[in-house]
Order: sequence, then structure tokens, then C-alpha cells
Amino acid sequence: MIDCIPFVQRRERLMQQLGSGIAVLATAPEQVRNRDSHFPYRFDSHFYYLSGFTEPEAVIVLLAAANKAILFCRDKDMEREIWDGFRYGPTAAAEAFGFDEAYTIAELDERMPKLMANQPALHYAVGADSVWDSRMLGWLNNVREQARSGVAAPAEIRDVRVPVDAMRLIKDDFELDLMRRAAAISCGAHRRAMLATCPGGYEYQVEAEILHEFRRHGAQSPAYTSIVAGGANACVLHYVDNNASLHADDLLLIDAGCELDGYASDITRTFPVNGRFAGAQRDVYELVLAAQLAAIAAVSPQAHWNSAHEAAVRVLVQGMIDFGLCEGSVDGVIESGDYRRFYMHRTGHWLGLDVHDVGDYKQHDEWRSLQPGMVLTVEPGCYIRPADNVPEAYWNIGIRIEDDVLVTASGAEVLTAAAPKTVAEIEVLMQQRQASEWPGAL
Ligand code: GLY
Ligand code: MN
Ligand code: MN
Repeated sequence: MIDCIPFVQRRERLMQQLGSGIAVLATAPEQVRNRDSHFPYRFDSHFYYLSGFTEPEAVIVLLAAANKAILFCRDKDMEREIWDGFRYGPTAAAEAFGFDEAYTIAELDERMPKLMANQPALHYAVGADSVWDSRMLGWLNNVREQARSGVAAPAEIRDVRVPVDAMRLIKDDFELDLMRRAAAISCGAHRRAMLATCPGGYEYQVEAEILHEFRRHGAQSPAYTSIVAGGANACVLHYVDNNASLHADDLLLIDAGCELDGYASDITRTFPVNGRFAGAQRDVYELVLAAQLAAIAAVSPQAHWNSAHEAAVRVLVQGMIDFGLCEGSVDGVIESGDYRRFYMHRTGHWLGLDVHDVGDYKQHDEWRSLQPGMVLTVEPGCYIRPADNVPEAYWNIGIRIEDDVLVTASGAEVLTAAAPKTVAEIEVLMQQRQASEWPGAL
């Protein structure tokens, strides 16, 4: 049975914050993939955060002053359920998900103008979807047309995502439990990938091991398309072809995380295909690892959002100078931005229901302070493409190390610590591989 209490509490908290007015949040539409096949359905994250309800064609309506929560959802339909499976219907959905009232989605157009009447403000995801924008304005105009019978339409339209984003930024215990479980599954998938990697294998074979591990532990899907990038492919930041063969002397970069009950994990590990880091690979790996550890050490409630990035960049730049990739002083290279030839992305992002989760990174033009309950990724990297002024030993080395980190009252907790990360941990694990079972040995 679903525990609806966290969702009921979130709705109540949102209504208290809004104080008055009507809030409307729709879930995501189903998406056609091709002809009559659909993409696997994924609900809207804001809608799910406030309902726990995973069916398509559903809308939450909140009447803030009355502290009343209403759900519109698909009706029971035995004929459709034979083809597509169970649907709650309004009566059972209201009970299971703790709504005060529920109606069929077919009644939405008829009921919305009445629900909007005499509400001082309308809160919805303004501009997120042109279809919903025009529906909202249609209902609004319908209410305005009743002005002569003394009915007032909402005078204000506000973006409901602003307060919900702020709520979602601080994870509650229910969310943290799910995020820990998602992280544990993904750590297992990265261990499995290390054990399944071998010279002569293919990137997609390793990807298949990862997906197998996600699903066998109940994760519904990957949280984003997995990146399984051997050798030079690791220098393509969003590489998703995953179709190349793996060479003994290359590194393999894997950025993969599962989604469990809506919550994302996001892990990157980079390791040698043959199980042993060689000279320049080892040097760059140790550098990125030192940058990542420095960045994690910079995560605490005493720090601001950018502290981790600043710490990582400082370590990376010193290494780039030592390796002859950049010239000058650390401050000079940071100032000029020359390091961006090898480190062109930022060190992390918020993590939650969305892999790049909601929440502002700045407040009043200042990096926001970290607070207990925030979850972020820490993911420095170094990507070295061949170039005239780059020592050849470093060519085509692409390394990223990414963990999911919870801000705690005293510092930080790495949720993904179970994925091997040091050179020794990776090499010891990979020694357990059985060469006779490698696909390349077939
Ligand atoms: N996997 C997406 C990211 O690391 O941002
Ligand atoms: Mn990430
Ligand atoms: Mn990632």
C-alpha cells in the first residue's frame, strides 16, 4: 500500500505557503515514439512530488485558503484496463493518495471555471506548456464572462514552480530513503560494469550489464541515457552511441544512474579496460580524484554552492600546469580560463526527482548557502583531446568521477561511496574478472 502521508503533508505545506488562491498542477502527457508506440511513461516531477500518483491524464487542484486538495484522473474503464492495465479511478485514487475530493479528468473543463471563481490568484507552471497556458486562459476568460453575476476572476497569475522548487531542494526523510536506495543500486551497477569490462568487448555489452542491475533491483529505468565511453569517446561529454569496441590500453568512462520510484542517482566512474591504470592515465586519474575529494570536502552548511567547484578547479589547474597542459600560475590560469580547454563543465548540480534537479543556484546574485537536506553531485573531470601544444602521452584521456552528496548538519555524506573509486579499489575489484568468460575470448 502507498504511504500517502508525505504527499499529503507536502500539499498542506504548499497551501500554507500560498495562503490563498487556486493552484493547478498537471502531470506529463504520454509521448508517441513512432506510429502507435509510446515512450515508457514518466509522470511530471512536480505533480508526482505533490501526489505520489503515477497515472497519465491527471491534474491536482489545490484551494489554499480552504486547505482542500482535489485530484482529477482517468475514470475506471474495464474495457481499457483489459488492454492497458489497472487504473484507480477517482474514488479509489482519492482514498489511496489522501485527496479531499476527486473527479474524472473528463470533468476538468466543466469544473475548473467554478473552482477558479472568486479565487484571488491562479498558481500554475506559467509558460511551461503552451497547451496548458491556453487552457488556463480559456478557464480564466470563462470566469471573467460571469462578472455581471458578481463572480470575480483571479487577478494575479503566479508560477507555482517557484515555491515547489524551493520545497524540492530540501529533501525529506522519505526522499532520502529512496535516494539512498537508488544510489545503492547504481553503485552495484558500476561494480558489475567493472567486472564485465574486458578487451574485445563492446560498450553496449557493458551498458547491458548496467541496465540489468538496475532492473533486477526494481529500479524502473535509468535516470538519463547511460554514457559508456571507451578511449577517445570519453572526451565527448554527452556520448551516448555506446557502440564501440573496447581496447585493452584504453580507459572506459561510465556515467550511469538508475531512477527508483521517481528519484535519480547519477554516478560516473572511469577505469582501465585491462584492469590496470598505466602511466599518464594513472596521473590524470589521481589528479581528478584529488580534485573530487577536495570538492567533496568543500561541501558543508558553512559553504556556498560554488565552493566545491572552486576547490576542484584549483586542484585541477595545478595538475594541468604540472603536466604541461597549461602554462603560468594557478591564479593566472583560473583568471584566463585556459583550463577550460580540458575542464569545460561545472562541478555539479542539484539531484532529486530530476537528474538536473530544480532549485536556484544563486539568491540575490550571490551563490546560495548549502543547507542540510540538499543533495548535489560532485563531478570534476579532465578531457584531453589531441592538439599541437598537448604532450602526446595525454591524448584522448577522458576522466570524470561523480558522486551524489547529501549536505548534513556537520558536513556531507557521500551516498554513492560504495562504487569503487581509488586506483587500488578499482584494480583489486577488476582482478576478480575471469578472462575465460570475456566475450573477446569467444
Ligand atoms: N549524467 C548527467 C550529469 O552528470 O550531469
Ligand atoms: Mn551529474
Ligand atoms: Mn552523470
